[in-house]
Amino acid sequence: MSILHSLLFIFFIADSVNGHQGVKYELIHRHDLHPGGGALLERLRELAHSDAIRVRAISRRVRLKQGAGRRQVRENRYEPACNNGSRGGGAEHSSGELSIHSGADYGAGQYLVKMRVGSPAQKVVLIADTGSDLTWSNCRYKCRGARSCGSRHRRRVFRADRSSSFRTVPCSSTICKTDLANLFSLSRCPSPLDPCSYDYRYSDGSATLGVFANETVTFSLTNGRKARLHDVLVGCSESARGQSFVAADGVMGLGYSNYSLAVKAAARFGGKFSYCLVDHLSPKNVSSYLIFGSHKEVNISVVRMRYTELVLGVINPFYAVNVKGISVGGVMLDIPAEVWDLSSVGGAIVDSGTSLTVLTQPAYQPVMAALRESLQGFKRLDLDIGPLEYCFNSTGFDAAMVPRLVLHFVDGARFEPPVKSYVIDAAPGVKCLGFAAAAWPGASVVGNILQQNHFWEFDIGKSRLGFGTSSCV
Ligand SMILES: *[C@@H]1O[C@H](CO)[C@@H](O)[C@H](O)[C@H]1NC(C)=O
Ligand SMILES: *[C@@H]1O[C@H](CO)[C@@H](O)[C@H](O)[C@H]1NC(C)=O
Ligand SMILES: *[C@@H]1O[C@H](CO)[C@@H](O)[C@H](O)[C@H]1NC(C)=O
Ligand SMILES: *[C@@H]1O[C@H](CO)[C@@H](O)[C@H](O)[C@H]1NC(C)=O
Ligand SMILES: *[C@@H]1O[C@H](CO)[C@@H](O)[C@H](O)[C@H]1NC(C)=O
Ligand SMILES: *[C@@H]1O[C@H](CO)[C@@H](O)[C@H](O)[C@H]1NC(C)=O
Repeated sequence: MSILHSLLFIFFIADSVNGHQGVKYELIHRHDLHPGGGALLERLRELAHSDAIRVRAISRRVRLKQGAGRRQVRENRYEPACNNGSRGGGAEHSSGELSIHSGADYGAGQYLVKMRVGSPAQKVVLIADTGSDLTWSNCRYKCRGARSCGSRHRRRVFRADRSSSFRTVPCSSTICKTDLANLFSLSRCPSPLDPCSYDYRYSDGSATLGVFANETVTFSLTNGRKARLHDVLVGCSESARGQSFVAADGVMGLGYSNYSLAVKAAARFGGKFSYCLVDHLSPKNVSSYLIFGSHKEVNISVVRMRYTELVLGVINPFYAVNVKGISVGGVMLDIPAEVWDLSSVGGAIVDSGTSLTVLTQPAYQPVMAALRESLQGFKRLDLDIGPLEYCFNSTGFDAAMVPRLVLHFVDGARFEPPVKSYVIDAAPGVKCLGFAAAAWPGASVVGNILQQNHFWEFDIGKSRLGFGTSSCV
């Protein structure tokens, strides 16, 4: 089945549950776009690879923290595509070292969402990513009639030239020169009203190039009506290449930043957004949701919401949490407190765009040791699945054999994921401990597999993260 065909299964939901305002999007798991049981192992390798790149970038941010990690405005030879009727924006980039500072690493998300953008509204399918601050889409701008514009391989592009609400950000503006430096704006400005351009680089060689613009995003409300959000900063990508984008038209920025769609939409819809993640191995017709506003209007049943502090602004644009420790089978593991210390060089984030759960070495070792002990009876297998170091023949496995792992937060909340979220399926008859190690110092990441079968509410207004067990329907 082609990817294009798979995309036909993604629907935008306009729910008329009751009279209140709320916005609900259907989410699907990115890796469900490559169906087939035999692909399970390959899929795991692929997601482990994109995780590794992303986590290196997150950890660099933690080490550099704010300010020092701020990206530089860079001059390079990027020309907006199509200016000269040639296929621009491809190869001409000055240096590879830029890639290690690339925030685009945060774009390798796993869940897709369909969004309507422009006037009249056009549909695009984006990766929903809590680690991205910019919302961008493959896009065609100023290419009317030019045969050479855009890539022939693209499935879908946002036609900025057909949208009456598309307004490019001038390259001479303070927004371009200062504020958007954090989003890789280029300092190149041939004439003051030329669009502010950007150049996102990925560590794996992917990149996306384009221009910043203000656009209108249309939301369907839970009451069946539509709401338009104006002046949303979007990236119009004239070129995007790399593995990260094969399944989507772009990225929806749900990170904590002045320019993220989540923050802008949250301001309009009750200060929060939430999502519910179905089992990461669910078939693609089983969907979960991304909601702006109150989830109560969307009728997803959540067993019991628990709340912990959502720590904003310490590892931008990520959502950090104050972890106290991890217990396995009721025994608190011996992990140094500094591993979780957000005020220093540790800490933990909750991220929709990382798949595996990543623990820095001083946390990884005791967690793995405690879980391995319960798996002594199974034959260990030597598979080459990136960071998944402990895999075993799961013939005769029963989740009840594994002690429960609990993530304890400083304020007393406990997150107790089901065993299948950390003893994960790798292939038929094969399971692996679903943790990856990261270098210390650095951040630990609660990935989306650990988040599955739970509802997550990011309450930006109240600096509060809510979560609860849910079937997501
Ligand atoms: C585009 O054309 C202009 C003038 O025709 C030229 O100055 C400029 O260098 C060209 N840009 C590229 C990328 O070829
Ligand atoms: C874009 O929107 C911002 C507000 O979000 C506004 O300050 C800015 O002037 C707008 N720019 C353009 C080019 O419309
Ligand atoms: C967001 O905007 C506010 C006020 O405009 C500013 O104080 C703050 O530093 C900005 N935050 C970021 C992350 O740029
Ligand atoms: C999804 O599709 C499978 C068959 O492909 C079917 O058995 C199952 O009931 C469907 N689930 C939903 C929620 O539609
Ligand atoms: C919410 O779901 C429950 C159980 O599925 C159902 O009984 C109820 O009618 C639903 N409420 C609304 C407003 O759709
Ligand atoms: C697991 O072990 C069983 C026998 O105990 C064997 O039949 C099966 O092939 C093994 N599976 C794998 C994936 O090694």
